[in-house]
Amino acid sequence: MDARASRYHDTYARWQRDPEGFWGEAACEIDWIEQPKKVFDKDAGVYGRWFTGGVVNTCWNAVDRHVKAGRGAQTAVIYDSPITNSQRKLSYSELLTEVSTLAAMLGDLGVAKGDRVILYMPMVPEALIGMLACARIGAIHSVVFGGFAAKELATRIDDAKPKLILSASCGIEPGRVVKYKPLLDQAIELSKFKPPHVLILQRPQEQCELTPGRDHDWAALREKAIVAKKSADCVPVLSTDPLYILYTSGTTGIPKGVVRDNGGHLVALKWSMKNLYGIEPGEVWWSASDVGWVVGHSYIVYAPLFHGCTTILYEGKPVGTPDPGAFWRVISEHGAVAMFTAPTAFRAIKKEDPNAKFLAKYDMSKFRTLFLAGERADPDTVKWAEDTLKVPIVDHWWQTETGWCIAGNPVGLGLLPVKHGSATVPMPGYEIHVLDEGGKKLPANKTGSIAVKLPLPPSNFPTLWMQDDRFKESYLTQFPGYYATADAGFIDDDGYVYVMGRTDDIINVAGHRLSTGGMEEVLSSHKDVAECAVIGMKDELKGEVPCGFIVLKAGVNRPPSEIEKEIVALVREKIGPVAAFKIAITVPRLPKTRSGKILRGTMKKIADGDAFNMPATIDDPVILDEIGNALKGKGVGA
Ligand code: COA
Ligand code: AMP
Repeated sequence: MDARASRYHDTYARWQRDPEGFWGEAACEIDWIEQPKKVFDKDAGVYGRWFTGGVVNTCWNAVDRHVKAGRGAQTAVIYDSPITNSQRKLSYSELLTEVSTLAAMLGDLGVAKGDRVILYMPMVPEALIGMLACARIGAIHSVVFGGFAAKELATRIDDAKPKLILSASCGIEPGRVVKYKPLLDQAIELSKFKPPHVLILQRPQEQCELTPGRDHDWAALREKAIVAKKSADCVPVLSTDPLYILYTSGTTGIPKGVVRDNGGHLVALKWSMKNLYGIEPGEVWWSASDVGWVVGHSYIVYAPLFHGCTTILYEGKPVGTPDPGAFWRVISEHGAVAMFTAPTAFRAIKKEDPNAKFLAKYDMSKFRTLFLAGERADPDTVKWAEDTLKVPIVDHWWQTETGWCIAGNPVGLGLLPVKHGSATVPMPGYEIHVLDEGGKKLPANKTGSIAVKLPLPPSNFPTLWMQDDRFKESYLTQFPGYYATADAGFIDDDGYVYVMGRTDDIINVAGHRLSTGGMEEVLSSHKDVAECAVIGMKDELKGEVPCGFIVLKAGVNRPPSEIEKEIVALVREKIGPVAAFKIAITVPRLPKTRSGKILRGTMKKIADGDAFNMPATIDDPVILDEIGNALKGKGVGA
């Protein structure tokens, strides 16, 4: 690999010289109903808007245009579900029929352009069809990950106020069927806003009762619509109209509704498939994420379909469905040329099959690249993947807010030398600086807050749903003129970006983004808890796991172990199993500064076995020993 052989530097320089020319050219790859009047309008929106005046339809660009261009018979979606032992393939023509039928069904249920639709779905083709059907009629979808509990769903219902919810009778996790209907009913009971309609997909593993007057059977309505030859056409929307809202953890228990628009999203994602991922139309691409996460939105559903690829929708795990060869089986069976997953999945495979014995069974000859994101790719895992797969392993840095990669190694422009531990270089569109607390630029190799110069590139969020002020306050105020990513790291002498961790209370558990503040709200709601602190503790498999410390109210004389069990169950009930909250520890008091601020950072260092300096402002240093002993007593931490 020779850095000079890559077209990256020229491409990035071309973007820097003329950002509007660059993105205007990229926009030529999209089918517009009406061309944008401006590539970028700096006076629109909070920090400007992309492709203003353009009229477009996202579903058209994902499906119809390919059928029209002769790709109708090509497989668009491969559903591969080892967990249910089933597979299904949909060609672009079949996908068009399914999407336009569902779009008509949504219309019959009163859903129109601008209305919100929540999806609470497992990884089945209907989830992808549902998202595209919304896009087709200009409705705004909001997918809620199936591992979230009723209360989290209720918060999102109240914020998005959906006309309709698309759901299923169940999801399937190894060893258990997750019944969605009771969670859905509870969420609707908890929410102030009551969605008038729910469309339920009954799965063979679990049939649920439908609530009369509100719930509809998906298959029955589909059947009727097919018999009646119902089909909805693409509705023209403005480039700047929202395509979807995706809620992500904020620093409080109230999630942030990240808005994605139609035009910018189309242009940046289409550009990324060839230039970043090095994929050609017609090739098979696999992103092993979940449609409930941003990676699932962008790279299971939208980008591969914009590019005319075959996308794999995988309902299974890296291990245990049935073995650690599951990923290799999917790649070889479907001829995937590249895959995208979180490092934690590879840590799980490495743990169960360190010598990759399962790999020998499979023909991986078509496989070219592995892309990792969602959390820091630790050099050990990257090295193991390189030695095992003998293809480039590309780490790249992402956020729900950006919708696509911020820094990565652009395979399509020519791979740059890989440096383990670095996400590589900024993509065109992103001017990245590392800043100190006062917002001053730091020199190379100095760690600080990573910030992106405004304006953000296409596909990045223009605002939070109905909350321009929260958007400005959360992201644009700390460093004027910049988007504060809330990630910390440094840039080396070669311009390589190293993302080391968050500067806020967000932790990353198995590639899932969670708020410790949100968990603390749950812990403090327990009647016996006086105060609490949740930290993310190092974990070999999941990167981090949450660990909660509780101080009991005076006079509570029940056994602490009983209360700790209730706390663990409470987080599962209020946030969901995805929080992976399994450790609660009772301590006599929490370490604080003299002004009363809990020293979470120091507690984390103790739990991780990292060296720490005694905070100068600590109230009572003895408490740190108490924390260390409490962790030892539980047999957790380093
Ligand atoms: N619906 C309901 N429950 C879910 C769920 C879903 N869609 N997804 C996960 N859960 C549950 C799991 O069953 C588990 O429950 P448990 O506590 O009863 O065991 C819990 O949530 C935690 O799940 P997870 O963190 O995924 O851990 P795991 O032990 O089941 O699996 C890995 C570990 C590493 C195999 C798994 O996390 C993985 O494949 N990660 C890939 C990461 C990824 O896709 N990230 C997306 C961003 S790119
Ligand atoms: P999410 O919004 O769920 O995609 O999570 C985004 C967060 O995950 C980022 O702010 C980072 O903290 C972390 N993250 C994602 N990709 C990487 C990466 N390649 N390296 C380090 N951290 C990452």
